[in-house]
Amino acid sequence: MTELYHLAYISKAKIPGDLDTVKQEVNDILTAAQRNNPRLEITGALLYSGGYFCQVIEGEMEHLEELFEIIQLDGRHNEVTVLHFEPLENRGFSDWSMAFAGIEDRMRFDIAGIKASKDDLPAKQAGKELVSTLEALVSQHQSLATSLP
Ligand SMILES: Cc1cc2nc3c(=O)[nH]c(=O)nc-3n(C[C@H](O)[C@H](O)[C@H](O)COP(=O)(O)O)c2cc1C
Repeated sequence: MTELYHLAYISKAKIPGDLDTVKQEVNDILTAAQRNNPRLEITGALLYSGGYFCQVIEGEMEHLEELFEIIQLDGRHNEVTVLHFEPLENRGFSDWSMAFAGIEDRMRFDIAGIKASKDDLPAKQAGKELVSTLEALVSQHQSLATSLP
């Protein structure tokens, strides 16, 4: 059996304009994910939180690397910071090629603090928290996962 991994990261969104523009871009990203991720057998979730993207992607190592390379080159964000990259027993988002976890005004993670920290424990903790936060948000947002406002 091939091993599953999950990768969680936070990045700084570079989307000029208001929250409506953000909604449109997030919608486009989800559409691309729903188009491409099934081929790579990748599942995951995406949250926009106070100017940052928080995303979890899960799948085989090779496939994750292929997709993550593309995502990192996307001009709609930069400062991509990986918080979590670990083997995974069972997928947390098995029902979604890319679940929508929401768009919110306030950033819920202290990304500056995580980056400034010298040891990697805060990042590890934030990575775990990010995964469980997205799981909780996605179950709240289930009905919106396929039809964004
Ligand atoms: C934060 C963020 C997350 C993204 N996640 C995905 C994803 O899970 N799957 C995907 O195919 N594209 C994702 N994209 C978009 C890709 O960077 C790229 O634009 C897209 O894969 C191109 O798809 P296409 O070749 O079908 O046009 C993401 C972009 C950003 C900014």
